[in-house]
Amino acid sequence: MKLKKITQANLQGKTAIVRMDYNVPLDNGIIKDDTRIKESLPTIKYLIEQGAKIILMSHLGRPKGEIDEKLRLDPIAKRLAELIGKPVIKVDKCVGKDVDKAISSLGFGNILMLENTRFHKEEKENNKEFAKKLASYADLYISDAFGTVHRAHASTEGIAHYLPAYAGFLMDKEVTALSPLLGEVEKPFILLLGGAKIDTKIGVIKTYIKKADKILLGGGLANTFVYAKGFNVGASLCEKDKMELAQELMMEAEESGCEIVTPGGAVVADEIGDNVITADIEITGVEGNMQMLDIGVKSTNKYIEILQNAGTIIWNGPMGLYEKTPFENGTKQIAQALTQVKGKTYIGGGDTLDALKKFNIDKSLFTHVSTGGGAMLEFLEGKELPGLKVLEA
Ligand code: 3PG
Repeated sequence: MKLKKITQANLQGKTAIVRMDYNVPLDNGIIKDDTRIKESLPTIKYLIEQGAKIILMSHLGRPKGEIDEKLRLDPIAKRLAELIGKPVIKVDKCVGKDVDKAISSLGFGNILMLENTRFHKEEKENNKEFAKKLASYADLYISDAFGTVHRAHASTEGIAHYLPAYAGFLMDKEVTALSPLLGEVEKPFILLLGGAKIDTKIGVIKTYIKKADKILLGGGLANTFVYAKGFNVGASLCEKDKMELAQELMMEAEESGCEIVTPGGAVVADEIGDNVITADIEITGVEGNMQMLDIGVKSTNKYIEILQNAGTIIWNGPMGLYEKTPFENGTKQIAQALTQVKGKTYIGGGDTLDALKKFNIDKSLFTHVSTGGGAMLEFLEGKELPGLKVLEA
């Protein structure tokens, strides 16, 4: 896919409205991981150097079209100002008099940040008038929000119909790094999937059944497949209504010669906490109130052995409840092992990145760490993504 790039735009003396994905994890207003802000810096610095006026937009969380005080972009503006070493003017709206005023006094090379786009219901509705209004603030549109390219919203897709649109440096980096996965890759090709739910992963499993040699499962997602194989999952997180779907996927995989591997053992506990009693048991022993909260040591070692011999690995989603110490081992050991493998490693997903941070894993040891979660998965499904289509050359 060829994108229109920011370097092809004439920016001198122009106003650029830029969509970022500043949907960062927050804990009581404190940014837990600022990777997405850091990754946006090359585009902002380039716009400053080129002498453009810069208007930044992003969503944060899922505020359902109304103001949610906890989801204002102020902490993001503050962190960006620290990182870029320049003031970031922040307004409390995306449209209206205050925004008009702030834009009219904005100087070249200066940065203005609009409020959370999802405070307006028109954003998710991809409302034309709202998109047009946003477009009216600028001469051109830049998108660096790879994490939102699967969303057809006013600030990610609609606006591009009213302005010349270009991809920023992060967008280009992501598309360039992930595109080889859509073609022939070095084998064995392993997909490692975890996380809580099956829904967001169905598409990618369906696609990779035909391409991958093995799909290794962990997390709540694996529990649904374990249940579909006929095992008792006790009180574990499990989407029992997705049992048939999991069975179908396993049958499809078998027909395509791809093995879907589920954990043979699990770390179980009756309750969740940092100091609870746990046991590492065979899947066949799960019963009653037991919850499977991590893959067991034997499965962790088995997965690591498979990964060590892989030519290409895609990893999205933790193997268990990594946030809690008794259930972090599977995710931690696998993350550490992936830094040592010879094959190419592609990693994505908010929780996966959070786990890498928790375990102090050096991200530069992987082939590519994507800022996209759902966007990365949908890109890898080979789908046409609305936020990318508008940037095509
Ligand atoms: C993400 O974090 O994956 C993106 O920012 C998209 O967020 P969304 O799933 O709320 O649209």
